[in-house]
Amino acid sequence: TSDKYMYYHGLMLPNVVHTEESLKYARTFKVQDEDVFAITYPKSGTTWMQEILPLVMNGGDLTPVQTVPNWDRVPWLEETRAALVLNDRPSPRAMATHLPYHLMPPSFFTCKAKVIYVTRNPKDIAVSSFHFHNMASFLDDPGTFDQFLDKFLSGQVLFGKWTDHVKSWRNADIGNRILFVTYEEMVQDLNGVLCRFAQFLGREMSQEVLEKVANHCQFSNMKNNTMSNYSLVPQDLMDSSKSPFLRKGTTGDWRNHFSPEQEAKFSAVIKQEMKGTGFKFPWD
Ligand code: PPS
Repeated sequence: TSDKYMYYHGLMLPNVVHTEESLKYARTFKVQDEDVFAITYPKSGTTWMQEILPLVMNGGDLTPVQTVPNWDRVPWLEETRAALVLNDRPSPRAMATHLPYHLMPPSFFTCKAKVIYVTRNPKDIAVSSFHFHNMASFLDDPGTFDQFLDKFLSGQVLFGKWTDHVKSWRNADIGNRILFVTYEEMVQDLNGVLCRFAQFLGREMSQEVLEKVANHCQFSNMKNNTMSNYSLVPQDLMDSSKSPFLRKGTTGDWRNHFSPEQEAKFSAVIKQEMKGTGFKFPWD
């Protein structure tokens, strides 16, 4: 155990942005019908969604993404910033969360708020997370990549096991209020994905606006956006000289990190835990 983390229903969360109060706030939050959630297991595309959602929800207006840091623009429901920024914000509000389905507030289940759930290849998540642990001083040292993979597979990482998170949301009993998308689809065809988001959220955009939004949300442009690239965070908390937060933005970087043995073990564990679910992913 480490003094950098707290535990919430068995999930490990970093103390730097989570407190008993912030979790109580999340547990009792009044979700409203027009609210929209971007829901992710960490390192699956959260920051990307924090850029996309305000643009799609506001007809491509660049003001929020150019003037408000991502963590206030689309705050995490469970983090300490939520109470500070959400209290005065009228619905429709865009929010993010890494919480599993069963830890959402009661109001979420009875309202019409919509969810976009982004899934990413867990091998690429493990790689992204490993580099994140090396640059973020508020997280434990990840150890060797091999040691980190073991922690990842056993769920001794932020927000627990990837398989539990994905299963909890893929089985969500909220009908057509939820749209599933993968990070891989976003990399491959952002325009197509943005069209789906716009339709799902009832905010169709002209071709011109769509292209503007897609262009703004490209990795290279977000990397240069101080409101989204975490450069506002002091270097003693996040040291981008060790690894930038917006690191590579690609699919398949696991090939540059996994040995054949690590790949075989990782795949076997994930396959076993996803057995019988019937979920199909582009990387399978
Ligand atoms: S966190 O800590 O959970 O909020 O992290 P999260 O934002 O979910 O994941 C970070 C990874 O997402 C990549 N990213 C992007 N990829 C492609 N295009 C865009 N626009 C984009 N924005 C963020 C980011 O680079 C991290 O992945 P890696 O593989 O480390 O590059």
